[in-house]
Amino acid sequence: MVKHRKTIENLEPYRPGKPISEVQRELGLTDVVKLASNENPLGCSPKAVEAIIEWTKGVALYPDGNCTELRNALASKFNLKPSQFLFGAGTDQILEIIAQTFINPGDQTITGWPSFSRYEAVTRIMDGTIVKVPLTDDYRLDLDAFLDNINDNTRIIWVCNPNNPTGTIITEQEQREFLKRIPDNILVVLDEAYYEYVQNPDYPKSVELLNEYDNIIILRTFSKIYGLAGLRIGYAISNENTIEYLNRVRGPFNANAAAQVAALAALNDQDFVRDSIKVNQEGKQYLYKAFEDMGLEYIPAYGNFVMVDVGKDSVQVFKDLLHKGVIVRSGDIFNMDNWLRITIGTPEQNTALINALKSVL
Ligand SMILES: Cc1ncc(COP(=O)(O)O)c(C=O)c1O
Repeated sequence: MVKHRKTIENLEPYRPGKPISEVQRELGLTDVVKLASNENPLGCSPKAVEAIIEWTKGVALYPDGNCTELRNALASKFNLKPSQFLFGAGTDQILEIIAQTFINPGDQTITGWPSFSRYEAVTRIMDGTIVKVPLTDDYRLDLDAFLDNINDNTRIIWVCNPNNPTGTIITEQEQREFLKRIPDNILVVLDEAYYEYVQNPDYPKSVELLNEYDNIIILRTFSKIYGLAGLRIGYAISNENTIEYLNRVRGPFNANAAAQVAALAALNDQDFVRDSIKVNQEGKQYLYKAFEDMGLEYIPAYGNFVMVDVGKDSVQVFKDLLHKGVIVRSGDIFNMDNWLRITIGTPEQNTALINALKSVL
């Protein structure tokens, strides 16, 4: 047996939400609703589907390793240079590229806890260590405590905004105050995977900060509101220098061709985005009201998912819900043992979830 690297000794594989087909097979169910992985319940833009069908004619060819068309479209959308973007097989892959580009053995990174779990994995794979700073009492990233944990080894700070799993945001003003106090040899990664869902004037306009700070990378994805999670495509925005370093590490054809054409078509269908926001906002209000009627505490959410305290062991509630054909996330992996994280679905899915939850509680 070949010996694996020491650093991955205690690393746990990522635990994805259960797929629908597995639940159908295991439990003999036909109707299964998945509200576990913060996917878009409306699917994706029909224009993206058309683009993929058209693209199949060229399946034998390698993708455009530069993602030229998508790059140019985003550059004009944000009024930035095309060379300020980097693409990846999901932002997941970009997190890996960032870690491989910046983390030396023994370097430290800082994140909130609970927050998105991949920050820890990518740090530790590079022989770095991670400080996980507990959230504030209102389940928000504790940026002051982040600052208290900075030392000479600190290389990267991961700011998940909205924070997965709690759905809370930090505001424009808080982010600005924070960045002012960060030494410029520390990279701040602003993970905005749920950016398009946030309907709040206080949410940061991070792209504007690129003129002021050389040490930030903004992450966005086509997996969430654009509904292309299955194709794996996300992007980083930063200054040209930083992107150039990331490009040294990036694999040649890391963003696949179907994803590129679909993302471009999806980007050009902002009606779909608006519909998705509307369904999300209405679904959120429905869930809030239902939770209130049931006497359950929830965390006001800014993304497309909401955390609710079910008042008892959420692993059991998760299992009971599975038997009712509803897949959610139990909070144990986030050390929030009585909580469920629920993706906001279509009206029908939300009703199915609430009915199932009422019957299992
Ligand atoms: C905060 C956050 N960042 C990044 C990702 C990864 O997204 P993707 O790799 O699909 O772009 C997710 C997915 O759930 C997420 O919640």
